[in-house]
Amino acid sequence: MTPPSRVRIYEVGPRDGLQNEARSIATETKLGYIERLVAAGLREIEVTSFVSPRAIPQLADADALLPLVPPDPAVRYPVLVPNLRGMERAEEAGARAIAVFTAATDAFTQRNIGMSVAESLEAFRPVLARAVQQGMWTRAYVSTAFGCPFTGRVEPQRVVEVSLRLLDLGAAEICLGDTIGVGVPSQVTLLTERHLEAGIELSQLAYHFHDTRGTALANVTAGLAAGIASFDASTGGAGGCPYAPGAAGNLATEDLVYLLDGMGIAHGVRLGGVLEAARYISAALGRAVASKVGQAGGWDPGTGRSTGGAIA
Ligand code: COA
Ligand code: ZN
Repeated sequence: MTPPSRVRIYEVGPRDGLQNEARSIATETKLGYIERLVAAGLREIEVTSFVSPRAIPQLADADALLPLVPPDPAVRYPVLVPNLRGMERAEEAGARAIAVFTAATDAFTQRNIGMSVAESLEAFRPVLARAVQQGMWTRAYVSTAFGCPFTGRVEPQRVVEVSLRLLDLGAAEICLGDTIGVGVPSQVTLLTERHLEAGIELSQLAYHFHDTRGTALANVTAGLAAGIASFDASTGGAGGCPYAPGAAGNLATEDLVYLLDGMGIAHGVRLGGVLEAARYISAALGRAVASKVGQAGGWDPGTGRSTGGAIA
């Protein structure tokens, strides 16, 4: 398998990056973050969640935020939807792309959305049907695909079963999530192989890595080697699921961009723009940018100097 020559970077900062943050971020600040992400060249930006405001207070302004996001035919703005109630809210706010989310393990799904995996699939059936009927783009997350904070090891075959069900229900893309950042490259290779053996196509698969144990970029390179061309990342490296003990730090978009640039893989995103957005949201959160490249900056091979980092 040759690595793809172009990949999609799916930005989750405004949703996954912010959902676990205690400091309440103003709607206009979120909008400023999203605008900077668009300016950096990101073309898929998960902007918010239409979940229970009690479950995720930080994203309780979803109904107000989404209509403020400037429509751009070149940019996809997916939103997270847990049930029909969320779907109705998303439609009213003008969503054109949605993501549903379940997991490979019942223990995690139960804590996250109050349903078993089987129950969640039934809950998504009408949601995905409605989205497809309206011509929306659809994605489905399978969290805990590499390990569960409550039940430990997860068998790849179990993940494949859930992915197949979600594709059956109408999801266009399956995103396999390493929710607590325990995965290693050999697992990515195996999980990808198992999906392909089950008849799932590379173009239907994306990965969502967390850098909790420093393995996120290694996992990306294993994904690339297996032909995967869609990766999630969060500008500034913030994020994590509040229902996953030990979840920390999404793979930072700036770290991913640096890697892909160096490997000569096209993606359309400007590192300088991402660093600007990372600084903006980190300042709003009141802390330093939580990523390697955010700290060190990029690197100009012409001069040998670092470009644009916090400690450059
Ligand atoms: N948007 C807003 N409110 C919603 C809602 C939605 N999509 N779905 C349910 N609610 C409300 C109900 O109206 C009810 O409100 P009330 O108590 O004022 O009457 C309350 O939430 C409970 O509803 P219920 O159907 O009993 O669901 P629940 O308490 O089992 O919660 C979820 C289920 C899915 C709504 C909730 O667990 C959730 O939003 N989880 C999201 C978790 C998340 O985003 N995790 C991070 C992503 S990895
Ligand atoms: Zn995440």
